[in-house]
Amino acid sequence: MNRKTPIGIIGCGNISSTYLKAPGLFDILQVVACADIDLERARSQAEKYSVPKVCTVEELLADPEVEIVVNLTVPNAHAEVALAAIAAGKAVYGEKPLATKGADGKTILEAAHTKHVRIGNAPDTFLGGGFQTCIKLINDGQIGMPVAATAFMLNHGMEWWHPDPYFFYQPGAGPMFDLGPYYLTALIALMGPIRRVTASTQITYPERTITSEPKYGTKIPVNTPTHIAGIMEFASGAVGTLITSFDVWHHRLPFIEIYGTEGTLSTPDPNRFDGPVYIRQAKDEAWREVPLTHGYTSNARGLGTADMAYAMRSGRLHRANGEMAYHVLDIIESFMQSATVGRHITLTSTCTRPEALHPGLHAWEEDQVD
Ligand SMILES: NC(=O)c1ccc[n+]([C@@H]2O[C@H](COP(=O)([O-])OP(=O)(O)OC[C@H]3O[C@@H](n4cnc5c(N)ncnc54)[C@H](O)[C@@H]3O)[C@@H](O)[C@H]2O)c1
Repeated sequence: MNRKTPIGIIGCGNISSTYLKAPGLFDILQVVACADIDLERARSQAEKYSVPKVCTVEELLADPEVEIVVNLTVPNAHAEVALAAIAAGKAVYGEKPLATKGADGKTILEAAHTKHVRIGNAPDTFLGGGFQTCIKLINDGQIGMPVAATAFMLNHGMEWWHPDPYFFYQPGAGPMFDLGPYYLTALIALMGPIRRVTASTQITYPERTITSEPKYGTKIPVNTPTHIAGIMEFASGAVGTLITSFDVWHHRLPFIEIYGTEGTLSTPDPNRFDGPVYIRQAKDEAWREVPLTHGYTSNARGLGTADMAYAMRSGRLHRANGEMAYHVLDIIESFMQSATVGRHITLTSTCTRPEALHPGLHAWEEDQVD
């Protein structure tokens, strides 16, 4: 593979360093430009990672060299930046969430469809070695037919470590919007799309006190549910339970377990790329750790962007695609709506279960790009 795909990064904050290092992991990617509303940030990152062009957002979008815009802005700016990139005729890959409101997510998908450009969205941890091993085990029939799943993300919130945790307790955040996408994307990659959901939610603490610096002692009003217990019916007929919470001090629950007709699979943390993966088949007397069959087991953020770059060359559907990200957003909004109206919500969105990657590090040989 000789030709690289030129990408331009918009939003040069905390997570941008990981993406600026991604060309070191993925041959196909090359960062040619970066932009930020704070031009100094873009300049400093460009210098550190030897990016040739530093520019304004408008200049980056007008640059004919840029094929994929990587949108690493804050969640509230995701839709605006994605729509501007689409209008400029660029493919866009964004950090999660696709948008903070389902309606904006839908507008992004429709605009991309009209302009014939691709939309990709994180999280891409499901493409890492840990989850691809789990997907292979399921596809190989090692636990039989999946009939149920449980998933848990429980902690006591972010105010004890994050320097500015206010937004975590406002609408569009909370544990389900912020961390639910990792769990829901992983569940869809393992078991396919979801057709109907219900949930109950609560706000246990109406006010939080920051104990991190520099805002130690500042109070935060809590305006979004901090404990969400959701039930999901998959299109396959399987039933899943997902609980996300910022109200729990301690627990002994797994990350995700998939229950099949022939055994049980216990997955790694869906916010990571590595293992461990455990399986216990019907007749096993104990859990067995399964060696990982796939590569990319360290912090490989950028995997989804690389997969999209290969897919754009070969014409196939990319795996971390906009339809799946919108389905995830729809599920989260529908959990909230269900708790408010007190009934099941049938989803209007769906997506295809992403194709498994090839084992090993030669994931993209299928594409045979020049
Ligand atoms: N930091 C992490 O560990 C992490 C992990 C996973 C996902 N994410 C996601 O990545 C995204 C970025 O997170 P971060 O931690 O880097 O945030 P950050 O606040 O450190 O950086 C965001 C950058 O975007 C810039 N920006 C904001 N609005 C903009 C606009 N309209 N146009 C151009 N630039 C704009 C800001 O100036 C800032 O430099 C978020 O969506 C977050 O949810 C972050």
